[in-house]
Amino acid sequence: MPQTLLHLDSSPMGDASISRHLSAEFVRNWKLANPDGRVITRDTSASAIPPVTAAWVGAAYTPEASLSPEQSELLGLSDTLIGELFAADEYVFGVPMHNFSIPSTLKLWIDQVARVNKTFSYATGAPVGLLTGKRATVVIASGGNYDAGTAMASYNFAEPYLRTVLAFLGVHDAKFLAAGGAAALMRGGDRDSFLEPYVESIRTQFQAV
Ligand SMILES: Cc1cc2nc3c(=O)[nH]c(=O)nc-3n(C[C@H](O)[C@H](O)[C@H](O)COP(=O)(O)O)c2cc1C
Repeated sequence: MPQTLLHLDSSPMGDASISRHLSAEFVRNWKLANPDGRVITRDTSASAIPPVTAAWVGAAYTPEASLSPEQSELLGLSDTLIGELFAADEYVFGVPMHNFSIPSTLKLWIDQVARVNKTFSYATGAPVGLLTGKRATVVIASGGNYDAGTAMASYNFAEPYLRTVLAFLGVHDAKFLAAGGAAALMRGGDRDSFLEPYVESIRTQFQAV
């Protein structure tokens, strides 16, 4: 059966973005491996995702059959974004580290897709993620290095946060690729040389399949 990939980017840096370059490399390889596959694209930095409001929360906790037309409209974007997550078999996220965490536009997206009885449930008392059978690859670009065992590792709230959110929603099969040290490019480092090992790591991942 043809596979579907959700390609989500969140860097505001356009063509200069490291995470966009690497998520695009993932998509290029994925298309070669899945010639009949479909790619859904979503760019959180290019769309104005609204913050959740009291009315939105009220609607999200209202049983579907009792929703007013206004409440249904309030949940429309959330429904669309959640629909993309269910439609895809696999996800690739391009994420820049911003202030030791994720960009605010990606957080707005998470707030829209983490929805009770849609993507998670407490029906049995314990939280159960409803996005089952999905795989995710998350590329995080950062100016500094946050490798495990280094002094800076504990400053990295981006990877643990995304790992937790994905698992909470049911996505336990998540690979993280940390493209750290991008600040060297601002000091005149060569962009292609910087990207090369990460591009190679993505290609190798597909060759191994
Ligand atoms: C608003 C902002 C905040 C940033 N905060 C951090 C940070 O906390 N730690 C870090 O290592 N790099 C930080 N950086 C550097 C970016 O992570 C780095 O430029 C990375 O390449 C961004 O990914 P992108 O190229 O895909 O946009 C920040 C950059 C911006 C624009």
